[in-house]
This record gives sequence, C-alpha cells and structure tokens, in this order.
Amino acid sequence: MSLTPIGEPRRKVTVATLREKKLHHEPIACLTAYDYAAARLVDEAGMDIVLVGDSLAMTMLGYDDTLSVTMDEMLHHARIVRRGVRHALLIADMPYGSYHVSAEDAVRNATRFVKEAGVEAVKLEGGEKRIDIIRRILDAEIPVAGHIGLTPQSTNAMGGYKVQGKSLSDVERLMRDAVALDRAGVACLYLEGIPREVASLITAEVGTPTIGIGAGPECDGQVLVFHDLLNLTFGQPAKFVRRYGDAAALITEAAQKYRADVQARNYPSDDESYHLPKETRASLETVLDRKQTLRK
Ligand code: KIV
Repeated sequence: MSLTPIGEPRRKVTVATLREKKLHHEPIACLTAYDYAAARLVDEAGMDIVLVGDSLAMTMLGYDDTLSVTMDEMLHHARIVRRGVRHALLIADMPYGSYHVSAEDAVRNATRFVKEAGVEAVKLEGGEKRIDIIRRILDAEIPVAGHIGLTPQSTNAMGGYKVQGKSLSDVERLMRDAVALDRAGVACLYLEGIPREVASLITAEVGTPTIGIGAGPECDGQVLVFHDLLNLTFGQPAKFVRRYGDAAALITEAAQKYRADVQARNYPSDDESYHLPKETRASLETVLDRKQTLRK
C-alpha cells in the first residue's frame, strides 16, 4: 500500500497566489471558519482562503452585531482555526475598536494576530480613511485585506445593513476607496453588499483580487459565511446566500434520536459498553457468590 497521496500535493496559498489567480482568471474561493473541526473540513475541501470573520460575534457568540466582539475573543478563535488550516491562506478580521483609536494601537493589535494566532493577513473595514493605518500595518510586514461597501462595523453610521453604492456619487466614492486601497497594496479587497455592476467595474480597475459577498459574479473570488452555507443562522438568509447543506436539520434529527434512545434505554447497547477481562469477571463472580453464601 502506498502512503503517497494520489494526485498533486496541494500548494500552500499565499498572498502571491491570490495575485497569480487574478492574473490567470482563476476564481478564488473563501469561506469563514471559527473552530477546529470546521477549519479542518474547510481547508481539506480545498478552500483558497479561510477567514476568521468577526461575523463570529453572531454565529458563535450570539451577539446581535459585530460591534461587541473583542480582540481576545477574535484571537481565541483565530488560534483555534490556525490549528486546523494547513493549505489555505488564513485571514482574520480586526474587530471594531482595535484599529479606530490610533495607528499605534492598530499595529499592536495586528501584530498580536500574527504572533499569538499565526494569521497571515488581517482584514480591516473602510476605504480612503483607513489608508494611513493600513500603510502602518503593511510597514510592520503584515499583509492587509481591505473591505468596502456594506461594512458591518459601520452599521450605526450607515443606519443598518443596506446595500451600498446605489447612487452615482456612492459609486464614485466606492471606486475612490477601491483605488486607494489598491495603491496602498492590500493583498485582496472584500466587496460586500454592492450592485453587481459596481463590483464588476472595481474588479476591472484594480490589480488586487476582489472577493465578493453579495457583490455579483464578476468578482475575482467569492466568500460566504460558514453558518449561512449550512443553514445554521436561525433566520431568513440574505438574497445572496446559497445554502449548500442543512446542518440544522442534521443536528436536530441526530439530537432528537439520541435523546429518544437514552430515554428508551436503547443507548448504549452491550456492544457500546466496556467489559471486564474474562479472569477478572470469573474472580468477581466467585467473590459475589461467597458473599451471597455468607449472607444466607
Ligand atoms: O466577518 C465576516 O465574516 C466577513 C465576511 C462576510 C466578508 O467579513
């Protein structure tokens, strides 16, 4: 039996790989993951990028939005995901507040993601107004992913989660943001919740690969949230979500069957139980018999 895996061994994805993929018009697949099992499965499914998104605030921690998740919570999940990801590029979201106070703070927090969690790039929301901070992080040798359009950390400023870039002036602003991030040297650019036409224009204009979510099919790649993909969100999905599996149904059915088996004493069976070795069992029976006789 050969221990060599069949086919080409998978190459580690780096930020350079993303550029190569854009050049060769090869779509980039990105999915979020927040724990070890999901990280392993997603990586082994051949994903190019695994994103530890701050969407974990809702999907894993049950918060209402992404604003309350902390650096410590993000680092905790990023470390766990790191242990499960071998081939994909690992990107983590910098949480709200971790890059909004000062550039020093932003660099210190970005550095923590690299040193304490082994992430390969950090993602920040915002366009032109984040350029100085992004340059400082890049100067610290940390690749940065940009994120524009519907930026969930701006929910209060935007007045909710609304598709962005619908008016001509908004399209111009998005284009300026994209070009500024591209010139600053971001490793890739996430485009969230913008019209397909606008995402297409941006993708054609910038050298950096664009990764879309609710931004149409012309982006260089796509990202989805793990829990959306698998129906684990307990709500009506957004228009752009395509469900590829129903983990909610699977988990509910398995949990209900297990509960019923326990309550009917159908679990565990004898086969699922450990047994004493033959000799110990024989000795135990002798001891018990003796005790029985003495009691008579
Ligand atoms: O937090 C997240 O999961 C994200 C993606 C949706 C892009 O930022």
